[in-house]
Amino acid sequence: MTQPETTRNSLDDEAGCPRLPRRTNRSRSGPIGFVRSLLRILAGKPQVPPSLVDNQLLKVIFNRRSMRSFAKREIPDDVFAAILEAGRLAPSTVNLQSWSFAVFTAATWRDTFDRPVPFQGQRAIIVMGDTYRDRLVLDAFPQSPLVEYTIAVVNASLAAMNMNIAAEALGVSSVMLSETGRTGLLDAGYLKQTLQLPDGVFPLMTIIFGYPRGPYPPLPPRLPLDQICFSGKYHIADRAVMDDWLAQMKAGYKASHLLSSFDAQLRLYVSKIGQAEADLKSMVFREGRGD
Ligand SMILES: Cc1cc2nc3c(=O)[nH]c(=O)nc-3n(C[C@H](O)[C@H](O)[C@H](O)COP(=O)(O)O)c2cc1C
Repeated sequence: MTQPETTRNSLDDEAGCPRLPRRTNRSRSGPIGFVRSLLRILAGKPQVPPSLVDNQLLKVIFNRRSMRSFAKREIPDDVFAAILEAGRLAPSTVNLQSWSFAVFTAATWRDTFDRPVPFQGQRAIIVMGDTYRDRLVLDAFPQSPLVEYTIAVVNASLAAMNMNIAAEALGVSSVMLSETGRTGLLDAGYLKQTLQLPDGVFPLMTIIFGYPRGPYPPLPPRLPLDQICFSGKYHIADRAVMDDWLAQMKAGYKASHLLSSFDAQLRLYVSKIGQAEADLKSMVFREGRGD
């Protein structure tokens, strides 16, 4: 598990973003660049102010990782119920709760999709944006499909993160997936048919849960705070920092998928995205459906 690194609790710019000493990876190509990028990934640690290192919730948040290998051990029903309750209690716009959760055990997943849960997960939840349920009693945004959609995505994503963190706090690891081969966002049309989703209910992410098998992977490279925060006018990111981050992403992907590459993975996404785009448009937006 990644151990947080303590840092000065300094507010070094107007936005309160610490400006950390910059080390960029000058040689980004070739084997030396690859090794340097891997070393930089391994050196990446959460930055925790010394006064807060004992905070239990921060420890859970900072140590969370996407886990892609799960033990055979089952998740008890009360533990999974608490995870779902964390989703139910998530905040949402006007308390609209514009989400639905398709909930599976390893057995019901196999019955439904005729394949095992990815990574030998023990439970799974497909989190969906849901603008259908509220419309039974309240059509809040009939003229604003994009806003209605965005609100549902935001709310359902917050519920997903609540479940993810609740699981982590209970010792259960998880990974959120958009691509699982058949059951993710990119297979929206298949999911609509299989789960008989009404119009206005659309898959966003599939969360796989289980007890971890083996240690957590290193922290994938995060952009420094001073590249993602700004105060006043938008701050254009430093190109060298972005190049460095991309080099680390590619090296990290290669190290964990020897037979594939970051670019190959992107190409897979692109190959499925056209169909997903068309399916999602008809699932999400009323235009053209006549409702
Ligand atoms: C909405 C969403 C979709 C994701 N889809 C995938 C996926 O299809 N396959 C995968 O291996 N990881 C997926 N991830 C996990 C990300 O790759 C992971 O969160 C990111 O690399 C950061 O790593 P960390 O979660 O360990 O901090 C997804 C994460 C999110 C939030």
